[in-house]
Amino acid sequence: MFDRIDHVGIAVEDLDAALALFEGTFGMPVAHRETVEEQGVEAALLDVGENHVELLRPLGPDTPVGRFLAKRGPGIHHVAYQVTDVEAALARCREAGLRLIDEAPRTGIRNSRVAFLHPSSSGAVLTEIVQPAHH
Ligand code: CO
Repeated sequence: MFDRIDHVGIAVEDLDAALALFEGTFGMPVAHRETVEEQGVEAALLDVGENHVELLRPLGPDTPVGRFLAKRGPGIHHVAYQVTDVEAALARCREAGLRLIDEAPRTGIRNSRVAFLHPSSSGAVLTEIVQPAHH
């Protein structure tokens, strides 16, 4: 069902400080930077080969990533798997009885289509299914 890991999402308090590490020290090129109001984040997508790291800074405390930071602190927030058909992947997850956060795909970074699975039935990992815009 999943083609590859698309990205690992990392929650950060300070995006510029995080970029100093990931771009500056680790040498990962920034492929894209965007504020995704719908998800309450400012995000930066960095290239690691054909995969990515997604740095997420919450736009406020009352957002999903803001609440995550308050509860857990900075660190790995989610793992995203790439698919060619997000609707089909989501349907299979629903049929398998997994707990969905998104009943239907929504717009993610770089005009991707994404849907999240709840950690409670995804191995305690917040899981994102992503269909890139170029598919
Ligand atoms: Co993501």
